[in-house]
Amino acid sequence: MLLLSIALGDPYSMAIDNIKEIREICDEYNIWLHGDGANGGVLIFSSKYRSLVRDIHLCDSVSLDPHKAMGLNYPTSVFLCRRYKDFNSVISNWTIINKKGSFDLGSTTPFLNSREFNSVRLWLLLNAFGLKGVAKMIDNKIDATKKIYLRLKPLKNKEIMLWNKPMTFSILFQIVPHSFRGKSKDKTFFYKLSKAQKMFKKQLENIGIEIHEFELPILMRYPKAKCNGFTTVLSIQNAHEKIPDDILVKLIKAIRNYYEKN
Ligand SMILES: Cc1ncc(COP(=O)(O)O)c(C=O)c1O
Repeated sequence: MLLLSIALGDPYSMAIDNIKEIREICDEYNIWLHGDGANGGVLIFSSKYRSLVRDIHLCDSVSLDPHKAMGLNYPTSVFLCRRYKDFNSVISNWTIINKKGSFDLGSTTPFLNSREFNSVRLWLLLNAFGLKGVAKMIDNKIDATKKIYLRLKPLKNKEIMLWNKPMTFSILFQIVPHSFRGKSKDKTFFYKLSKAQKMFKKQLENIGIEIHEFELPILMRYPKAKCNGFTTVLSIQNAHEKIPDDILVKLIKAIRNYYEKN
């Protein structure tokens, strides 16, 4: 059997694939549909944005990572199957899982050589905050992401290139200092462009804001580029309502000034 894994929150833009449409194709060709919800699977706990994964139950299996947007420590991953019998066969050789009817002592220890009780973290979080509290935490992050996006939008195609309109937890962008305008898109251009992203990332880290840096093929971003290779793209992920949304704009302007002088 073939397996198709779709992104419920891809690693870069965190956009959610159209589950229903893809399900229809999988049914036609008898393909197992896996929803990789490492990023977006936790939207099942959201009240405002749950509709983005409204068809998640159509996947044959789904994985999600509460250690990402839910802030739990690593690793706290969840794997779910649509049908219990499938779950049993998927994990048939995996000894750390207690299967139905198992007399495995792993369910009553911890003792030496025992297993970690990873799921307790998620259970504790849900108990401590309640479903409403967890929903609020997730919704706040997406709301904060959209708020920052609105601050960045006026700079689009001027100081920055914006590569997505955030659907969930990520804004994907590149800083483009003014002095870069009109330059031939050759290897030197992309080297300098990537350096500007690194500088921006460092400045944000200095004030305690974590930002992700990806390398994407140049041809994906600049189809008319005169060279091959990779370029660095930044992503604001898991934004927090406490991050002042104008701080990014201020830093972008500082970088522009730096490049004008150097
Ligand atoms: C879409 C997607 N799937 C899977 C992973 C793997 O995540 P982890 O190793 O943290 O479980 C990531 C990590 O960023 C991801 O973005």
